Amino acid sequence: MRSHYCGEIRSEHLQQEVHLFGWVNRRRDHGGVIFLDLRDYRGVVQVVFDPDTVASFALADQMRNEFVIEVVGVVRLRDDAAINPKMATGEVEVLGQQLTLLNPSRTPPFQIDEYSEAGEDVRLKYRYIDLRRPEMQDKLRVRSKVSHYIRNFLCGHDFVDIETPILTKATPEGARDYLVPSRVHPGQFYALPQSPQIFKQLLMVSGFDRYYQIARCFRDEDLRADRQPEFTQIDIEASFIDEADIMALAEEMLTGLFKEIIDVQLDPFAVMTYADAKKHYGTDRPDLRFGLKLVDIADLMAEVEFKVFGVPANDVDSRVVALRLPDGGRLSRKNIDDLTSFVGIYGAKGLAYIRVNDIEAGVAGLQSPILKFLPENVVVDLLKRLEAVDGDLIFFGADKADVVNDSMGALRNRLAADLDLYDAPWSVCWVTEFPMFEKVDSTSWTAVHHPFTQPLGTVESLLADPGNASSRAYDVVINGYEVGGGSIRIHDAQMQRAIFEVLKMSANETEAKFGFLLDALQFGAPPHGGIALGLDRLVMLMADAKAIRDVIAFPKTQTATCMLTSAPDSVPDKLVRELGIRVHKSS
Ligand code: AMO
Ligand code: AMP
Repeated sequence: MRSHYCGEIRSEHLQQEVHLFGWVNRRRDHGGVIFLDLRDYRGVVQVVFDPDTVASFALADQMRNEFVIEVVGVVRLRDDAAINPKMATGEVEVLGQQLTLLNPSRTPPFQIDEYSEAGEDVRLKYRYIDLRRPEMQDKLRVRSKVSHYIRNFLCGHDFVDIETPILTKATPEGARDYLVPSRVHPGQFYALPQSPQIFKQLLMVSGFDRYYQIARCFRDEDLRADRQPEFTQIDIEASFIDEADIMALAEEMLTGLFKEIIDVQLDPFAVMTYADAKKHYGTDRPDLRFGLKLVDIADLMAEVEFKVFGVPANDVDSRVVALRLPDGGRLSRKNIDDLTSFVGIYGAKGLAYIRVNDIEAGVAGLQSPILKFLPENVVVDLLKRLEAVDGDLIFFGADKADVVNDSMGALRNRLAADLDLYDAPWSVCWVTEFPMFEKVDSTSWTAVHHPFTQPLGTVESLLADPGNASSRAYDVVINGYEVGGGSIRIHDAQMQRAIFEVLKMSANETEAKFGFLLDALQFGAPPHGGIALGLDRLVMLMADAKAIRDVIAFPKTQTATCMLTSAPDSVPDKLVRELGIRVHKSS
């Protein structure tokens, strides 16, 4: 029986016999005595074997990194010179008396250090070893505490935990579905859920009133640091509520969670409309830890001959904006060139700028490749609008609105990261009043949130002008990450049909895909709404991880493969045949 965890041995245990289990973190031979650093998840303790215990000493000499051992010994103080203030157990050591080898280990592919230098491919292939590292242990333990807190909170607020199917029918959330062929019904497929959206709505029709689930979701989409093909949502739905109720509940939950798990007191969440977020920050997930804002200047540029600004200034689908960076004078020409390449990734064709050296000196006090193209009065009005002061560097973006928003929004974040412009460690905001639809191309629409979101207005107004319909959707954004999104739902079958009509689904297609939902809405569906928070993203932020991969025990790579198991993998032809499908093998 274990008496203590390795990391817990302290001077209060002096002279006590302890019985420890763990992994050999390191073996050192100090001429005559052998030191084994013994590790379990609570830390490391030094165990000393001297030649008096003949058998154990001989065995200790054969121990290597990551061997699993059992030790019985007595706790004693280290010599003064050997005290290690950096180790929690650094005052003491265990004089080993009995040593048992429980399992040897092959030489590990990398050292189990706090921060690993090993490449991520190797870490993922040997994920079970990577997870031994204290950093990874901590992150997954934070994750466990987060889900525990959430469950307690939601149970305490009368939410019922209900599981919904994994083998199911498509739930559109904007990604491709993962499909599972049915053996029993050849040629037919289940879809893995992109979210439990439709089922949670059906549970409201069933009268559960308040539902939650910590739900696995599957989306076949382009992967990034904050996206995995399978991920976890804290999925919530309630009946007879409005936006304010759900937002207050989520705010109370997140505020309590941050306080409890990482001792951070979040400020009350800001609320911003989608239109304002795009206007000032170029994105619907603004990072508000710092203050830079995009300022529209199309009106000032409408008459200028400089085509780069003049053309977009006169086009309704375009934007011309300025971004004033206080103290930006410290950026070199090389820095600006790098930033110009950076905005190029987002489609920007250039990055005009003005350095404000001496505002009193008027145009003569400025430095810029575009000054020669701009009339003096325009420059004066511009500086006034931006409230420019000496030392500022002003950047410009002029193009189609999407390009300006994406590139200048990204530039804003990049400047904050490079120059450490953050005023606060945390900022949380709600983004509200999303448009219901956005254009896919000149003739078709897609739902910005999902097609079950309630639009404002009537069926008639929606059908007449879908592009202008606002929706009852809201997102919660933490430090520039979309951590959650939700909406008040459509509970009226006629409105739901109208949405499908705008999305150009035929009556047959609507019936085939969502007939069951339309039926349910006609059997006394209560008004309802909800939200889903991305658990992985939340934990990534709380655990200060760089990617959600670091807070998922067995994540997939950027190309959706599992390095550990080599999934996805081919299967024998016989199995494929049984499923009634044929694989076209590309060479
Ligand atoms: P949405 O699609 O906005 O809404 O998803 C909710 C939250 O889930 C997280 N998320 C992801 N996390 C990791 N990897 C991914 N690929 C990924 N995709 C999404 C994000 C996101 O904010 N059914 C609706 C919710 C609702 O309306 O109640 C939905 O799924 O943090
Ligand atoms: P050009 O006339 O193309 O040499 O551009 C003059 C200046 O405007 C350069 O500093 C470019 O980086 C910048 N520029 C060009 N296109 C854009 C654009 N779409 N938005 C902002 N700046 C631009």
